[in-house]
Amino acid sequence: MRLHVADHPLITHKLTVLRDAATPSPVFRQLTEELVTLLAYEATRNVRVAPLEIQTPVTTTVGVKIDDPRPLVVPILRAGLGMLEGMVKLIPTAEVGFLGMVRNEETLEPSTYAERLPDDLSDRQCFVLDPMLATGGSLGAAIDFLFQRGAKDITAICLLGAPEGVAAIEKQVDGRDVTLVLGAMDERLDENGYIVPGLGDAGDRLYGTV
Ligand code: PRP
Ligand code: URA
Repeated sequence: MRLHVADHPLITHKLTVLRDAATPSPVFRQLTEELVTLLAYEATRNVRVAPLEIQTPVTTTVGVKIDDPRPLVVPILRAGLGMLEGMVKLIPTAEVGFLGMVRNEETLEPSTYAERLPDDLSDRQCFVLDPMLATGGSLGAAIDFLFQRGAKDITAICLLGAPEGVAAIEKQVDGRDVTLVLGAMDERLDENGYIVPGLGDAGDRLYGTV
């Protein structure tokens, strides 16, 4: 597994505002989108491209275009939905699939309640979006699901990660082609499985309590 933890003052600045309990939902949503676009720059470093010959006003030259099959972006509902716009802004030609997951707040076990993905992901590059990597249960289940469908490689973008969750994913992927891009690596999980210092419940802060 490749791990990239962002190290940029603009990202840290935006994360600081995001963490602040006084930041209201509209600002939280806007910052989430902006942070994803910044993290996506690193996350798409290995996106597959093919040569493309074009005519400039001056001459013919060869550039590149994003290759087929198109990348698949998979936000994990609900909180991952807040990251979708920021990602597709950068790769407008990407396809989008959805995975709905919720973790049981007592047992911390994830369960899948919705799935809308192509049946065959052979040779597809997948970009999974989930703001919080806590125990790693939800992301781990999503990664297994996508590999079972034949995904070629998977890059996960998370705003915050806990060391416990990163270790769990590393153990689970066991040599498969997974990249993890984090906005920040936090200190630890608390006794309720929340990231410390974290930002609280990302879904609630984006969309309100349900
Ligand atoms: C949150 C978050 C992740 C998960 C992380 O989702 O968005 O999906 O918890 O925790 P884990 O690493 O321990 O699995 P939640 O289950 O609260 O659902 P929501 O997105 O609908 O709020
Ligand atoms: N899910 C969240 O939304 N926040 C956490 O800190 C952990 C899991």
